[in-house]
Amino acid sequence: MVINARSKRLLAKIDPHRLPRHVAIIMDGNGRWAERRHLPRVAGHRAGIDAVRDTVEISRWLNLEALTLYAFSKENWKRPKREISFLMRLLREYLRRELERLKRNNIRFRVLGRMEELPPEVQSDLEVGLRETAVNNGMVFSVALNYGGRSEIVDAVRRLARKAQTNGGDLSQLDESALEQELYTAGLPDPDLLIRTSGEMRVSNFLLWQIAYTEIWVTPILWPDFRQEDLLEGIIEFQKRERRYGGLRA
Ligand code: FPP
Repeated sequence: MVINARSKRLLAKIDPHRLPRHVAIIMDGNGRWAERRHLPRVAGHRAGIDAVRDTVEISRWLNLEALTLYAFSKENWKRPKREISFLMRLLREYLRRELERLKRNNIRFRVLGRMEELPPEVQSDLEVGLRETAVNNGMVFSVALNYGGRSEIVDAVRRLARKAQTNGGDLSQLDESALEQELYTAGLPDPDLLIRTSGEMRVSNFLLWQIAYTEIWVTPILWPDFRQEDLLEGIIEFQKRERRYGGLRA
């Protein structure tokens, strides 16, 4: 990827030994980006694809272990039908266009959310992406789709309860790590850094369990304008934080 001059200056401020392992992003502000340009909302979603591409590339270039983007929440079904089908089409288009690049860059694609409730044609494109990148062992790129943090926990608890039932009601193995293994994110480290664009100070039902100790950085930039240098700024901010996990200063 091409690292621009501003990113080079920012990179000089980043300690490569203290990078976040996992960055999660709430992509927000597509609608406002479009409104400011007197364009339909969906133009903001389309422009958001360039930001997705740039973010995936710089994350891979930095050799992050995991990048997770919040693309469609369970609550997003409340949006107008036209906007929903545009988003679904955009996602399919993205996958078809970018799959080769993901493969070339050794990126493993993953979906977080109730995939089985998505339209069948979306599911089948996602399946192709999952299957064709399954052997990759570089960065894990997860897209949260039809995702809700609370329902993720409910789904995990259901599976645990079913397991307990088959074990004659034995709950002795039920601990935090058992629950984590049933979450959509099983096997991924918890996010170290959660970025939200467009200035909103909300978590919006995203990775509720996983962000217990995550550093949060909110930027006023609207998602379609988010680029490599913005991710680097978030990482610089992250490296200024002192993470104590409830303990005392080192
Ligand atoms: C939030 O902006 C953004 C979304 C709900 C959709 C994000 C989806 C994409 C960028 C495209 C598909 C994603 C991938 C990973 C290929 P908003 O509409 O809530 O903005 P607003 O708050 O300004 O109205």
